[in-house]
Amino acid sequence: MSALDVYVNARMPNTKSTVLFTRAKRKIPGGVNSPVRAWKAVSGTPRFIARGKRAYIFDADNKKYLDFVCSWGPLILGHANARIIKAVATAAQRGTTFGAPTALEVELAERVTRLYPSIEKIRLVSSGTEAAMSAIRLARGYTEREKIVKFDGCYHGHSDSMLVKAGSGIATLGLPDSPGVLRRVASETLVARFNDSDSVRRLFAKHGSAIAAIIVEPICGNMGVIPPDPEFLADLRAITRRHGALLIFDEVITGFRVARGGAQEIYKIKPDLTCLGKILGGGLPLAAFGGARAIMDLLAPEGPVYQAGTLSGNPVAVAAGLEMLALLSRPGVYSQLERKSRQLESGLNDVLTKVGLKAAINRVGSMLTIFFGVESVTNVNHARLSDRAQFARFFHGMLQRGIYWPPAQFEAAFVSLAHSDGDIRKTIQAFGDWARAESRGCTLRTFMLEAIERGEHWRPPRSPAR
Ligand SMILES: Cc1ncc(COP(=O)(O)O)c(C=O)c1O
Repeated sequence: MSALDVYVNARMPNTKSTVLFTRAKRKIPGGVNSPVRAWKAVSGTPRFIARGKRAYIFDADNKKYLDFVCSWGPLILGHANARIIKAVATAAQRGTTFGAPTALEVELAERVTRLYPSIEKIRLVSSGTEAAMSAIRLARGYTEREKIVKFDGCYHGHSDSMLVKAGSGIATLGLPDSPGVLRRVASETLVARFNDSDSVRRLFAKHGSAIAAIIVEPICGNMGVIPPDPEFLADLRAITRRHGALLIFDEVITGFRVARGGAQEIYKIKPDLTCLGKILGGGLPLAAFGGARAIMDLLAPEGPVYQAGTLSGNPVAVAAGLEMLALLSRPGVYSQLERKSRQLESGLNDVLTKVGLKAAINRVGSMLTIFFGVESVTNVNHARLSDRAQFARFFHGMLQRGIYWPPAQFEAAFVSLAHSDGDIRKTIQAFGDWARAESRGCTLRTFMLEAIERGEHWRPPRSPAR
């Protein structure tokens, strides 16, 4: 156990979060309902969140943090937006679910298809996992082929075919990432390298006639933010066309985030199928997949490819989504996000230069990752070289200073419209304070002194406090 482990585990013995986490671990595996929430990558006790307002969250002890997780992407307007709450309340009063079609679903389908010209028809589901899983089934049904190409480090939810890692270098046949995933299912997933078109060409040269689709995060967010090289997405489009395979853009993060029309609008590439989620639901469980009419019409009940959901197109979630899209249609929204995010990026970079810390900052629009200990990151292998121990010290240093950053190196931080210029300045200031302490090699000591100053009477534990 590192000194950081010992310190962060020992310093909050009686907080409500600690008590709740102990209770949670008795009844919920790992104490959480999604693994990254347990802070395994950075150690310490996850804060249990009681409420959020605009750019801030408040934990169970009423401590306030400036939030850059934004629920992992959906909250582009910040927390508890009054108009979304009103839309949700109005919809809930009419009834929370019917299991029958509603006018709101038609309106949302019409709006999304206007914003995404590649989507002629759309089906609503409840999570990004379902969207990607269903798009893959549809691609297999349409092409009557079985293999799927994904990229090492890209995440498309936790359906069996997508839980595949590549190991080091390129594995041509996938291996399951998790017990419970059948090897024969995983072996139908071929793994290529993001930003390496040749790795894709090699897979197609060998398996071309058996490949149903390539699925890709057009801007990667799940190995930290990695933008596509200029020709990469165009290459994927050309390769899939040449071989009669489909191109699936997983825009669960990037949809409505980097532009109203997602990454496909920025890079001007038209995929065959697109997965959406997160922002689409305005903070409620809603996702979607859609694409060319000829492909989508293969879905049941129109066609033979089965897909269904009790709560699909849930009226409360759809009302939140419609309000979200209405708010995002205001002029200047994306330029405002870009301005704030650029201010954050350049402030963080200035600190790195002044203090002499080595780190690479990748940003596309309002999604950003700081990779510590590396000069530049353009693929997953570079990302894996980053200094995760330093990231953990950064995370706790920022938390100490009231900034809630994603608790893992390979995640994107999100800027929302609720982050004010003052909030951005405060974040840069906190980063500067942490970076100066870090460069003197005394972050741990600084933590302790700060804790003592606040009257927390930190003592080194006698034995590790697990
Ligand atoms: C690109 C991408 N696709 C799919 C998913 C899965 O979405 P969900 O967590 O809603 O199932 C995620 C989740 O973070 C994602 O980032």
